[in-house]
Amino acid sequence: MNTIIVTGGAGFIGSNFIFYMLEQHEDCRIICVDKLTYAGNLSTLSHVMNHPRFRFIKLDICDRKGIYELFSEEKPDIVVNFAAESHVDRSIENPEVFLQTNTLGTSVLMDACYKYGIGRYHQVSTDEVYGDLPLDRPDLFFTEETPIHTSSPYSASKASADLLVLSYFRTYGLPITISRCSNNYGPYHFPEKLIPLMIINALNDKPLPVYGKGLNVRDWLYVEDHCRAIDMVLRKGRVGEIYNIGGHNEMKNIDIVKIICKTLGKSEELITYVADRKGHDLRYAIDPTKIYNELGWLPETKFENGIQKTIQWYLDNQEWWQTIISGEYQNYYEKMYGNR
Ligand code: NAD
Ligand code: TYD
Repeated sequence: MNTIIVTGGAGFIGSNFIFYMLEQHEDCRIICVDKLTYAGNLSTLSHVMNHPRFRFIKLDICDRKGIYELFSEEKPDIVVNFAAESHVDRSIENPEVFLQTNTLGTSVLMDACYKYGIGRYHQVSTDEVYGDLPLDRPDLFFTEETPIHTSSPYSASKASADLLVLSYFRTYGLPITISRCSNNYGPYHFPEKLIPLMIINALNDKPLPVYGKGLNVRDWLYVEDHCRAIDMVLRKGRVGEIYNIGGHNEMKNIDIVKIICKTLGKSEELITYVADRKGHDLRYAIDPTKIYNELGWLPETKFENGIQKTIQWYLDNQEWWQTIISGEYQNYYEKMYGNR
């Protein structure tokens, strides 16, 4: 039995990864470590809480003593670190907590892995560490060799963590891997991010706030394809390596918002152009050649199907997001969009 610590498992991608792993591998036991910030939600994990191969522990990855105690008790074989402050807009308002969790939190996990020994530490990173690509050069893509060139406090904190993880490989021989994925979408995506925000606002007949002209491009991947890629990296990836994950699915923000309007039968008149994000990255696009050639990974869900499944999930799970948007989220929304 492999004991896997999954940090940030009460968030969007971490929870989907836990469901995926429990279903795919009967030989793994999952310990979810999550601080339960505004983005972490225990109701997301409710249907696995009593699973015999699952344990939840509320813990901050920056809490060195707590993390060491957990490692000493559980002796994990694998650690997969999803725990992060993940929203670019919040990082522009308040960078400090991003450095705290994303960078210093990662350093605590690194030290714990070194102290107690580990079979594999996997860092879930992002394509945002590469900065952005111009809109008029569709021939350019991010490869693993693209230099780090961050734009936001979020991406800077993630890039710092990546460098630290690589340094523990080189200096201490820690068996690490890193994956850098493009934008994910799917169930349990927190309502402050583009796709869930637009679905929920459209359902409530509220304005759909598109930054700038809506021409920025993101490379969207269905969350389950990301989870499968991480699983493959854990099983077959080479230690010390970085793997980019993305499925050549570039879309302009405005086109996504229009698809959501059309699917929900809502008027495009809801679309409201608002002030652009500071330092807004223009285009992200992943070259996934390495993960395809080395591990045989390819995305399985086409965007046309994934977006329909996602919209249906938000229609079927209104209680999940209603609870979120009726709480502290309202203050956040007013602050971010009130005078935009
Ligand atoms: P999320 O914001 O939905 O979830 C983050 C989770 O981490 C939450 O459950 C939160 O409670 C927890 N957390 C935050 N600070 C913590 C701390 N100090 N200690 C323990 N837990 C803490 O984020 P997500 O979208 O699921 O992203 C997960 C990871 O994937 C992040 O590292 C992010 O950088 C990376 N990533 C995300 C995307 C994307 O499109 N969402 C794309 C590429 C990479
Ligand atoms: P987001 O989901 O925050 O992901 P990221 O910034 O990490 O790519 O945003 C995706 C794109 O959508 C990005 O170009 C910003 C844009 N956006 C809007 O136009 N309006 C919004 O209300 C939000 C949240 C994002």
